[in-house]
Amino acid sequence: MHILAIETSCDETAAAVVEDGKTIRSNIIASQVEIHARYGGIVPEVASRQHMLTIVPVMEQALREANMNLGEMDALAVTRGPGLAGSLIVGVNFAKALALTNHLPITGINHLEGHIYANWLGTTKPELPCLCLIVSGGHSDMILMEDHGKFRKLGNTRDDAAGEAFDKGARILGLPYPGGPSIQKATHGVATSLTLPRAWLKESDDFSFSGVKTALLHLVEGKGPVDYTWIKEAAAAFQDAIVEVLVTKTIQAAIRLNVKQILLAGGVASNSALRARFLADSSIPVLIPPPVLCTDNAAMIACCAYYHRATGDGNGDDLDVIPGLALG
Ligand code: KG4
Ligand code: ZN
Repeated sequence: MHILAIETSCDETAAAVVEDGKTIRSNIIASQVEIHARYGGIVPEVASRQHMLTIVPVMEQALREANMNLGEMDALAVTRGPGLAGSLIVGVNFAKALALTNHLPITGINHLEGHIYANWLGTTKPELPCLCLIVSGGHSDMILMEDHGKFRKLGNTRDDAAGEAFDKGARILGLPYPGGPSIQKATHGVATSLTLPRAWLKESDDFSFSGVKTALLHLVEGKGPVDYTWIKEAAAAFQDAIVEVLVTKTIQAAIRLNVKQILLAGGVASNSALRARFLADSSIPVLIPPPVLCTDNAAMIACCAYYHRATGDGNGDDLDVIPGLALG
């Protein structure tokens, strides 16, 4: 089965063709990072306008690279939420028009569930039940996946998401947007002598990252003029604090729940310090998609749709966006 998927939930216009929920025939991502960088963050109206300009060429390139045409597709998939309303509307309406004109079935996919399914595109097949940590620009969710389509949310962030914290922390340090990759780059090979506080929230599986961000701000303001060597040390302390909490709490929950695997997902899962620490500290096997499948892409949406279609799950003309869609 060949599924063409469209993903426009945030600031990447993406289209992909995936065969049998496993083999990526093409995975095209048109990033808007440079456009939003000049504003220091995503401007929703600019994002949706950019999706409108790029969606057709991105879809055409996905088909071209897969060496296939629309008539050879078995189904379409599209992200319906969560995400920016204007961005989601462009993708959903475009995919619905394609479905109608090409007589193809269509499935609306939860973006968070899609992130989890990036793990099904690797060589090691995930084993269930597993504990999923979704860490992105908008989410820091710990989710128990008992079976396909069976998710239970155990915890989430009480304030900033992990990716949001990286982006805000980078801004405090004067590092460019997006913050996660800039902080990772600045901390390369740095052993820091600075420490920042960790919010453990020991009674729950929730996270909180606004405190460490404020502590970083106070550290910078208290220091006065700083050089790049000090900024790198502060960035490393900030990254250490976020990574240690994510890794420790997730492993503790995985042991408590006796799951078979831990699956990482979302843009922050491409962070090299987070990946290394999970692999070093966890006695439970950890699966982490390659960085290009951690950040937003349409291959994960196509893969997720394959498992939905296997259970006869699809949508009709009433498919609509749900910007606040939750998982579990
Ligand atoms: O999953 P994603 O691409 O989009 C959302 O669904 O939000 O995640 C984007 C987030 C941004 O906040 C970005 O700073 C963060 O992921 N991110 C990283 C890294 N790469 C992207 N955070 C830490 N380290 C990275 N290498
Ligand atoms: Zn995402």
